[in-house]
Amino acid sequence: MATYKTIAKTVKAEDGREIHYSEVLTGLTYALDLPLAQPAGHTLRTCWIGMHIGRQLELPPDQLWELYYTLLLKDAGGSRIGSRLFELFYNDDLVVQNAYRKLNRQQFKDVLRFLNKHAGIYEGTFGQLSRIINLLIQWKAVTAELSKVKGEAGAEIVKNLDLPEAVAAAVCAVDEHFNGKGQPQGLEGDKIPLYARIALLTQVVDAIQAEDGKDAALAEAEGRSGTWFDPQIVAAFKSVAEEDAFWAGLTCAELRAAVIKLEPKDKVIILTEEKLDDLAQAFAVIIDNKSDFTKGHSARVAEYAEAVGKLDGMDMPSLRQLKRAALLHDLGRLGISNAILDKPVAITKTEHEMTQKHAVWSEEILGRISIFRQLAVVAGAHHERLDGLGYPNGKKKDDIPGDSRIITVADIYDALTTTRPHRERMDNPKAFEILNGMRDGALEGKYVDLLRKNVE
Ligand SMILES: [Fe+2]
Ligand SMILES: [Fe+2]
Repeated sequence: MATYKTIAKTVKAEDGREIHYSEVLTGLTYALDLPLAQPAGHTLRTCWIGMHIGRQLELPPDQLWELYYTLLLKDAGGSRIGSRLFELFYNDDLVVQNAYRKLNRQQFKDVLRFLNKHAGIYEGTFGQLSRIINLLIQWKAVTAELSKVKGEAGAEIVKNLDLPEAVAAAVCAVDEHFNGKGQPQGLEGDKIPLYARIALLTQVVDAIQAEDGKDAALAEAEGRSGTWFDPQIVAAFKSVAEEDAFWAGLTCAELRAAVIKLEPKDKVIILTEEKLDDLAQAFAVIIDNKSDFTKGHSARVAEYAEAVGKLDGMDMPSLRQLKRAALLHDLGRLGISNAILDKPVAITKTEHEMTQKHAVWSEEILGRISIFRQLAVVAGAHHERLDGLGYPNGKKKDDIPGDSRIITVADIYDALTTTRPHRERMDNPKAFEILNGMRDGALEGKYVDLLRKNVE
């Protein structure tokens, strides 16, 4: 197992206590639930279920610790397949992801029902039929591709966070099935990493229990024992499922606090400034993975915002906060469908109203994390305008934090200078012509000038 390097600069809470890394990561997992369209807290619930199974299997602390981070990050690659799902199914990827998580992909009749309900539903009878036939013909290749892309994207995030190789390998293998009929490699039995075998069961069990209750989840676990699931893990799950407290935990308002405590005590990672930067960088990649049109957007906005802040004379700690907020400003976009994000023509008014929710969700999710309370307000206001005509709250000049005003300028500049589904990228003179037209009414003129100075 990789050793964890200790860095001196720890982040302290307001009351002076050290903060656990898992306090931030568990809060951010609400963003990982969004592209899967799972009820909020899905990742936390799978962690709760999986850690109980791990304890029941009497795993040693080192393995429980690796299992813990596997469970928290197993869907870090989930946003990477949004664009592809939209392309393959020509349907809202959120609806498809939600149904796909519960689908028994080894049962032909279930697959057929799934495709009939979700593929090409807006294409007319002939279009839908030909899409279903094409998907059926390529079904094995399609599911393997989705598992591979998602798994590899997730593993990359794990590595960027400096977590052990065993966690990355497990994140890559969550879609493997015990009988060798899973993807992407068709691994069988104990050739599948143990943490991945546990994670697979947890995600199916949670998706089903959240919708149809615990008896349905238990029946599904038993029904897929030996095909999807390792029978030994199903047996451990059935044992923990006998405890009422186990089920009560899943719906408990304090679930996140309980999950934070599940990290093995002698292995707890203490939060440092560097680790916080790494988390912001990693989640920026997760956000930008959502659409092929936003690759690198959050990182570039952070780079521009930081440059503007520097030219404005901000000190280093303030610049660090600004950069983190810029990296995370679009966190809520993970909950917007690729049917909107990737739409090849201009979006409708209703779709525009839908996209506006992303700013609210960014603030909501970040606001759950105590050390991000201020950052959450900054991120939530990145579409506000000085004249009060922005969204989501129509805040005016003095109510909009300075960091938000910088991020807004950087955000619009990046949007204008990159290709979007319905238009080509603009060159710098054209982009600044537009930014100048928005100065003082919508944007802070000073920051437009500083950005121009930096770009030039
Ligand atoms: Fe945004
Ligand atoms: Fe943005």
